[in-house]
Amino acid sequence: MFPKRVYSTRRALLAKDIESGIILIPGNSEAPSNYPGNCYKFRQDSTFLYFFGLNDPDFAGVIDADKGEEILFGNDVSIDDIIWMGPQTSVAKKADSVGVKKSKKFSDLAKYLAAAIKAGRKIHYIAPYRYQTKILLSELLGIPIGALQKNSSEKLIKAVVSQRIIKDKYEIEEIDKACNIGYAMHLFVMQNCKVGVPEQQLAGMMDGIAMSQGAGVSFATILSQHGETLHNHDHSGIITKGKLLTVDAGAENNNNYCSDFTRTMPCSGKFTTKQKEIYQIVCDANNLALELAKPGVAYFDVHVAVYRLFAERLKALGLMKGDVDEAVEAGAPALFMPHGLGHNMGLDVHDMENYGEDYVGYGSAAKRSKKFGYRSLRMARKLVPGNVITDEPGIYFIPALIEKWKKEKTCAQFINFSKLKEYYDFGGIRLEDDVLITKTGNRLLGSKRLPITVKEVEEAMRG
Ligand code: GLY
Ligand code: MN
Repeated sequence: MFPKRVYSTRRALLAKDIESGIILIPGNSEAPSNYPGNCYKFRQDSTFLYFFGLNDPDFAGVIDADKGEEILFGNDVSIDDIIWMGPQTSVAKKADSVGVKKSKKFSDLAKYLAAAIKAGRKIHYIAPYRYQTKILLSELLGIPIGALQKNSSEKLIKAVVSQRIIKDKYEIEEIDKACNIGYAMHLFVMQNCKVGVPEQQLAGMMDGIAMSQGAGVSFATILSQHGETLHNHDHSGIITKGKLLTVDAGAENNNNYCSDFTRTMPCSGKFTTKQKEIYQIVCDANNLALELAKPGVAYFDVHVAVYRLFAERLKALGLMKGDVDEAVEAGAPALFMPHGLGHNMGLDVHDMENYGEDYVGYGSAAKRSKKFGYRSLRMARKLVPGNVITDEPGIYFIPALIEKWKKEKTCAQFINFSKLKEYYDFGGIRLEDDVLITKTGNRLLGSKRLPITVKEVEEAMRG
């Protein structure tokens, strides 16, 4: 947890931005896995964490923007709870630890909100993503579950995004820590990827590093010799000579900040010439994004620059053809990278994605493209100091997609479909780093960069 004034300042700024009405920020509850008493690992809601800092279930925070009053709603434990959970800090003390002066029982929230609604006060809330919270808000506010989204507060979303999208020094320190755990996870896999080893073993041990050094993984680990499937969570394979292993994984540290790295390595420890050719293009694309990402530059334009590099280099390899500018304009490189160059990262690995991607990655200045590939870009905004983003270009050979484009003659003037046949069993390569935008440019997050050049990766695998 940060010093209490960090949370007080955030809430005061939010109240100022919202001007009038009541801001309701519910925390998460425990989520049962297979019976009520056996729950998934608790994950607090990130908006609640950001403004109220407490990592415990069954709390809600309220900020009265007119009066400046802040209340934490939550229940003190009974002797029965103490028997099972041990002594617990009182709600009032927890509230004080994050600078909130007033606390009440959770059941008082219904009365408090009913009185506010009766008085015609506006209740600002963000549409919930968990079913339990949907039921809670529906009951508290008298809004049918299906209408929660449309009655949610765009003003609140915009005000929260404007704060959270710029990370302060405390947050950057936490993200650096999460990146250092991510580094250890990925280095472990590089050093232990050997022909014959089960993918499940590598994935499980990698996740174990995240759990032993922090709160666990920041999302379900992707570790696959079918890197052409972008989010492949199947770990049933055995490391096989000649294949590529794509590993996309990150950690959440003990203060719930995230990292997200991807590396791709040759299963046998040495890249083949064909693998090296494609790998080098992706590696150069990752570095190009680092060269370009700085304040004032729209991340959309960096994505376009990566597409241009792909078009030039894949043309040189005979996989693309025609005019490079026209190919980029038509979105032809999206056949090879049908996803965006990156996303915001912070308390969520895809930061604030529950608010709606466009509010986070586009804002009012940019509009999401409708074109395949371009439309998948999660972060298109003009970069400003304090942004934390991922840089994750990739080249994938997805036989079903290539066949579809071939059949429908999509971008046929730019794609050499017959040459592509030779790549149907290639897999995919993605290389992802986490980047802080600084006043003058950017810096990689974490103390050390994971091995990324062909030489570095092969060396790490030998070591
Ligand atoms: N690393 C997973 C993703 O960015 O979607
Ligand atoms: Mn990512």
